Amino acid sequence: MKISSAEFLVSNSEVAKCPKDRLPEYAFIGRSNVGKSSLINLLTGRKDLAKTSGKPGKTQLINHFLINKNWFLVDLPGYGYAKVSKKSKSVFQEYITDYFLQREQLVAAFVLLDIRLEPQKIDLEFLEWLGVNEIPFFMVFTKADKVGTQRAILNVEAYKKVLLESMWEELPETFITSAVNNYGRDEILKKIQEINAGLPK
Ligand code: GTP
Ligand code: MG
Repeated sequence: MKISSAEFLVSNSEVAKCPKDRLPEYAFIGRSNVGKSSLINLLTGRKDLAKTSGKPGKTQLINHFLINKNWFLVDLPGYGYAKVSKKSKSVFQEYITDYFLQREQLVAAFVLLDIRLEPQKIDLEFLEWLGVNEIPFFMVFTKADKVGTQRAILNVEAYKKVLLESMWEELPETFITSAVNNYGRDEILKKIQEINAGLPK
């Protein structure tokens, strides 16, 4: 898919205030610092569209980016950043939960996972929460430039194994990305394009 326009529209801390347009949207979620904002910049081909930082906790609001004037990418704050709230060790901010539970325009979530790490409790809990709440999602492994191919394969397989051994009968589709090497962009955009094409007009 060609990205002909990508513009920041609005930031919100309440799902009720998010854009009222009935455009399809895709949300990017994962632990703080996993690379959500960087991935949005990679996908849109705009280096500074979403604010990134080496320090966790950079994105604090629900940010809507209008793409090609007909769908949204949504950048969300990360979970698992202790400074954000007392509860955030196991649960993430309430307005994020509200976003996922209430936002009817949400087509699918892209859950970002650091490819360097073995399956993390907080990520597994979050994936399970999405499953229980019947929110469609994909898994995106980030920072592929930081590991060798062997380690990358092992860590992706480890996640799949844990999911299959717990509650999952079918695995979500997975993507491997690197915002440094521009890796994985086309696959994710192609997926979004396919889904958009199949949505009722
Ligand atoms: P919060 O908004 O704090 O939740 O973080 P985030 O998930 O949006 O992460 P962000 O995109 O701000 O990136 C965090 C740090 O990781 C930054 O220093 C990025 O440059 C770095 N980073 C993101 N993606 C990649 C990647 O693919 N490879 C490498 N090597 N670094 C990356
Ligand atoms: Mg961010």
